[in-house]
This record gives sequence, C-alpha cells and structure tokens, in this order.
Amino acid sequence: MKLKFTKPGKKAARTRADFAKLPRHVAIIMDGNGRWAKKHKLNVAMGHRKGTETLREVIRHTDDLGIEALSIYAFSTENWKRSPEEVGALMQLILDFFASEIDELDAKNVRILILGDKLGLPEKQRDVLVEAETRTCRNTGLKLNICLNYGGRAEIVRAAQELALLVQAGQMRVEDITEEAVACHLYTKGQPDVDLMIRTSGEMRLSNFLLYQCAYAEFLFPKVLWPDFTVADYDDALEAYGGRERRFGKRL
Ligand code: FPP
Repeated sequence: MKLKFTKPGKKAARTRADFAKLPRHVAIIMDGNGRWAKKHKLNVAMGHRKGTETLREVIRHTDDLGIEALSIYAFSTENWKRSPEEVGALMQLILDFFASEIDELDAKNVRILILGDKLGLPEKQRDVLVEAETRTCRNTGLKLNICLNYGGRAEIVRAAQELALLVQAGQMRVEDITEEAVACHLYTKGQPDVDLMIRTSGEMRLSNFLLYQCAYAEFLFPKVLWPDFTVADYDDALEAYGGRERRFGKRL
C-alpha cells in the first residue's frame, strides 16, 4: 500500500542559500511511528512504512542542501524486544527500502554506511546492506549513516576493545589513546561530530544513540510524530539550529 504525503498548503523546500548556517552532521531519532499508526487505527507496521516515506524525503532534502552527513536511527539493539511481527515488519522494510532507493542514492553520489552490528541481523538483510555499502563505497557526496542493530554504548565498548588489542600487540601506547584515537575507532570514523540531533514526537531522550559523537550537539525535539514530519518541519529545525549559539564550553 502506497501512502502519500498529503499535507495541505505544503511550504516550498528551502535551499542552501536560505540558511546562514547549516550543520555538517545531522542525526535523527525517527520517533512516533507507533503512535501515528494508533492514531490512524492502523497496525504499527503501517506506521513504520509511512515513516520510511518521511525518511526518503528527508534524505533527498539533506542531499539537496549539501549537508555532509546524516545519521538515522533505524533499529536499536533494544528493538529486538518488540513483538516478532513488528521486528519482522522492520526487517522487511530494510529490504524494501534498499530495493527502491539504492539506484537513486548511488546516482546522487550518496555513500551508505551501516552503523551497528551487522552480524546480528538476518542473512538476507546483511547481504543487502553489505551490497549497498560496497556499491557506494567510492561515492563522495552525502554520508548516509543508517544505524541498524546499533547501540551507542556497544559502539564505545567496541572501540575500547580495538584500542586495547592494539596496545596489547605493542602497536600503540596507552598515552596515545586520545579522544581523536577513540573517534577513529567508532563507526563514524573520519566524519564530523553530530552538530544537530533531532528527535520527533516530543520525547526528550537520547536512547543510546551516537553518545560519543553528540558531546556538543544541539538538540531539537519537535512534537510532530515522525510520519507527519515534513520537509518544512526539517527546514524549521535547521533554521532553529542556525540561531543557536554554540560555545563548546568557551565563554563567548
Ligand atoms: C521509533 O518509533 C521508530 C523505530 C523503532 C523504527 C524507525 C524505522 C523506520 C522509520 C524505517 C526503517 C528504516 C529503514 C532504513 C528501512 P516507535 O515505533 O518507537 O514510535 P512510538 O514511540 O510512537 O511507538
């Protein structure tokens, strides 16, 4: 079933020139799919499906604006605790998303990176994800970080273990474990820290998402449920980010 954007009086999307300042890295917690489905008397799978349509628009707009990186929280390590039906629907959406989007994303020079434990995902999904990463690995445009089976603490633990192994093997000294060295062992290696974190649906939590990378992020919590989040809402968030005074601990 194809669900359409049906926002009356939709505002025209803004362009890069409309913003005085844009973030280099946007991260999004796409929250509210379940509540949207309930509100429309649909099953939760339909909420996630509609949410995927929002995602498509948001990716396109992020790319059009020339933003360097977009990270989206598609499936957390905790999401396995949901019902088998819901987990199954999300797994199917991964397959559907890549089947329908990969050609356009690749043509737009988007580089896809999967953040999280791919080995913990079903084989079919893993194959599709690896194929998307491989196909786009030389692309130099938007870095699209799709976080799947992802947990922020697990990511930091993984980095610590990799560094410990290097020290154990005599390839690194303990005093060389700097903030930059840790960052080099995160999934987001080589990317800027998150500048703007958006969580829709009014919830104000980080939920184990990009903990290290969000150290100095600006946070926005629009009340709108993710399936109803429009490009105009996104532009409003970007505009609000532009008005924030970022001090990074300094006195300006
Ligand atoms: C949170 O809403 C959303 C998720 C757990 C999944 C988000 C996934 C997608 C939008 C699509 C999958 C992405 C790809 C790349 C195919 P919720 O269900 O927790 O909402 P609720 O709090 O209202 O119940």
